[in-house]
Amino acid sequence: MATLIKDVKLSDDIIKKVLFERHIDFINAYGQDEDDFEYGMTDYLRVSGMYWGLTALELMNASPVQGKDEIVKYVKACQDPDSGGISACINHDPHILHTLSAVQILCTYDRLDAIDVEGVVKYISSLQQPDGSFSGDKWGEIDTRFSCCAIMTLSLVNRLDAVDVETAVEFVASCKNFDGGFGSRPLSESHAGLIYCCIGFLSITNRLDLVDRDTLAWWLCERQLPSGGLNGRPEKLPDVCYSWWVLSSLSILGRLEWVDKEALKSFIFACQDTDTGGFADRPGDVADPFHTCFGLAALSLLGHESIGKVNPTYCMPQTVIDRLHLKPQILSD
Ligand code: FPP
Ligand code: ZN
Repeated sequence: MATLIKDVKLSDDIIKKVLFERHIDFINAYGQDEDDFEYGMTDYLRVSGMYWGLTALELMNASPVQGKDEIVKYVKACQDPDSGGISACINHDPHILHTLSAVQILCTYDRLDAIDVEGVVKYISSLQQPDGSFSGDKWGEIDTRFSCCAIMTLSLVNRLDAVDVETAVEFVASCKNFDGGFGSRPLSESHAGLIYCCIGFLSITNRLDLVDRDTLAWWLCERQLPSGGLNGRPEKLPDVCYSWWVLSSLSILGRLEWVDKEALKSFIFACQDTDTGGFADRPGDVADPFHTCFGLAALSLLGHESIGKVNPTYCMPQTVIDRLHLKPQILSD
C-alpha cells in the first residue's frame, strides 16, 4: 500500500527573492498600536517577540522604528527585582525563556548594563534541580528547552560557573533517544525543536562528543519533504521555523550539505506574504515575527548573500557572538 506523505504543494509562480522592504515594514508595524488585536493577544510573549523582531531586523541590516533605547527600557522594566528573572511583559511572572530573550536583546544592543545581571544569574541558578535539569519558572515544569535557555543565558553573561554544568549535561544526555534525537525529558520522542535545544546546549558546554552524529544527522535530513520544506517530526507538515531548528543543528554537526538547499530555499521563499510582508509557517498562512525571524535565519545559514551571518547556536548575529568572544563548539564537515 502506498504511504501518503503529508506535505504542501508549492505554486509554479513562487517568488524567488527576499522581499526585504516589506519584511522590515512588517516587523516595524507589528503590534505597535496598543489598541491593536495583535498587541493584546501577544502580551504573554512580548519580550521574546521583541527578540524575534529585532533579530530579523538585524539580519536585514535594519533598525527598529521604535528606537533601541525604548526597547532596552521596556526589557529593563520587565525584570523582577526580587527573583531577578525577566517576564514577557510588565507585571507578569518571570520565566526563563523571556530571561534568555532579554539577555539576547541586550547583548545584541551592547546594553547589558541596563539590567541587574547578578539578579539574572541568581534566578537561573535557582531553577536548577538536583538531577541537573532546569524548570522554566517557579511552577516547576521541566523541559530540555529550559536547559538550553539556562546555559545560553549564563554563557552570554559569562557566568556558567553559577550552575552545576556537569549534572546539567547528564540530564540532557539522558534525553537522547535510539534514533540519535532528543526529546523534552527522558523517554520523550525526538523533536527537531528540542534537538536544536540539546545540540545548542552541548555546543556551548563543549560536549558534542555525546551526540551520535551521523544517526542524528540522518534523522534530521529525513525531515525534508518533496516540497523542499522541513518538518519537526515524522508525519508532520513542513513549517518554516523547522528550517531553522533543523538547519542550525545540522550546521553545528557539520552536516549542512546533507539537505537539498535549493529545494529548501524555494520553500522558504514561498512562505513570504507578498502583500503584508513577513513569513508564515507555510505558504498562504498568516505571517508573524516568529516565522519571519527563523525564515531569515535559515536563509542566512543557507548562505544568502544579502542577509547578515547568523550564529547557529545562539540565533544571534555572528558579529555579536564575535564581540562577546563566544566560541560554541562546531564540528567540521
Ligand atoms: C517548537 O516548538 C520549537 C521548539 C521546541 C524549540 C524552542 C527553543 C527554545 C525555547 C530555545 C530558545 C530559542 C532560541 C532561538 C535561542 P512548538 O511548541 O511550536 O512545537 P510544535 O511545532 O510541535 O507545536
Ligand atoms: Zn513554526
